[in-house]
Amino acid sequence: MNNKPSNIKDVGTATLNYGNQQYKFPVFGGTIGPNVVDIRKLYEKADIFTYDPGFTSTASCESDLTFIDGDQGVLLYRGYPIEQLAKHSNFLEVCHLLLYGELPTPAKMAEFDHTITFHTMVHEQLGFLFRGFRRDAHPMAVMVGVVGALSAFYHDSTDITDQKQREIASHRLIAKMPTIAAMAFKYSIGQPFVYPLNKLGYTENFMRMCFAVPCDEYKVNPVLAKALDTIFILHADHEQNASTSTVRLAGSSGANPFACIAAGIACLWGPAHGGANEAALNMLREIGTIDRVPEYVKKAKDKNDPFRLMGFGHRVYKNYDPRAKVMREQCYAVLDELGMKDDPLLKTALELERIALQDEYFVERKLYPNIDFYSGITLKALGFPTDMFTALFALARTVGWVAQWKEMVEDPQQKIGRPRQIYTGPTKRDYIPLEKR
Ligand code: SDX
Repeated sequence: MNNKPSNIKDVGTATLNYGNQQYKFPVFGGTIGPNVVDIRKLYEKADIFTYDPGFTSTASCESDLTFIDGDQGVLLYRGYPIEQLAKHSNFLEVCHLLLYGELPTPAKMAEFDHTITFHTMVHEQLGFLFRGFRRDAHPMAVMVGVVGALSAFYHDSTDITDQKQREIASHRLIAKMPTIAAMAFKYSIGQPFVYPLNKLGYTENFMRMCFAVPCDEYKVNPVLAKALDTIFILHADHEQNASTSTVRLAGSSGANPFACIAAGIACLWGPAHGGANEAALNMLREIGTIDRVPEYVKKAKDKNDPFRLMGFGHRVYKNYDPRAKVMREQCYAVLDELGMKDDPLLKTALELERIALQDEYFVERKLYPNIDFYSGITLKALGFPTDMFTALFALARTVGWVAQWKEMVEDPQQKIGRPRQIYTGPTKRDYIPLEKR
């Protein structure tokens, strides 16, 4: 099962002086980015743990999928800059790149397109699962439940030790996520589900499943479809972010891929992570007009106020998120196509960005707009309700989660994830019978 070669190079050693001992640990280098000190023997040698809540300085794995240079604002998918992929590629081609490591030849692309297209339908019984939810359930609650339930339908692709089953499960997840997301949307607005149409491309198919109704023709607007396809490319993968780490940790126990992706969806929902696009739009709505922007920038800087500027800041990017630049371009393209360039939310967002980027609180903390800052305005203009924004993020991130999960399963270095802790609770004490307390 484990067959991923290691591309790590020895680049030296690190010495730890602790107590009256000196401990040496190997330092490894990858192709680009920081070197790592291998502390796997630390506890065995020195009887101590490292302490890194939030994993700000911890590499959890070796990966050749995605690379971020947070200081330079660089994002590479298998070495290709996100700006070039957004400009020249399409989401399904990026799916092939992330899954298989290379841009496909025309023949490979046609084969991959056919494979994914013919997995877009879901088992008919899955539709009945939706009926157990209230119509006003948050689409992410529905997605977590329905994607987890895929394990109950596709038993023939849950044996993770079988390379063919891993590949089929990967294709099924990439292909069915748009269908499931569209079903969650239709269910929430009381409209009938729309089946996928094989003659349409991946993103066009998704838009038709969301916006077509049985009583009328639906024609996909190619400008809007291209914008949404580009937005999916921007969201496809992003190193070991919280939801990807969740997928990897779940997968490290041998859990089936559908259960692992459901865990990733649950984590992505959080407003500090994928839920930020929904939260950012709600924030812009709450601010309302540009004259109220200074009041909210003040709130964001106030340590006694839990309010943060949603769509701002990032654990890794200490420069402008390169995806946010492309997202802003897509935002302009969509609003232009729809004759909405005077959208008051866009005006508020641009003023908020202008003020924040010149304020020393944000400058000294290197807080810049991230991908979620402009996505909400764009997705709202495309016709999606706010509570669908994170479901769209999950749809696009599925290929990243699947590719990272597959890499983890095939990595000979990987074992079940099981962090330790620093214990600060009570020392050992004896039980006191109730009558003596
Ligand atoms: C995504 O990891 C990924 O790659 C995620 C993602 C992906 O593609 O998977 O890129 C997608 O999740 C993007 C991030 C979306 N989240 C938001 O927009 C929510 C708002 N942002 C913050 O919650 C925050 O910036 C985080 C969670 C994104 C990052 O938090 P960190 O790295 O843990 O930084 P921190 O909380 O330690 O903040 C450092 C300082 C603090 O001030 P001080 O204690 O130093 O005085 O910056 C401040 C924070 O208070 N700060 C903010 C802020 N973000 C950080 N202050 C106001 N507004 C903000 N948005």
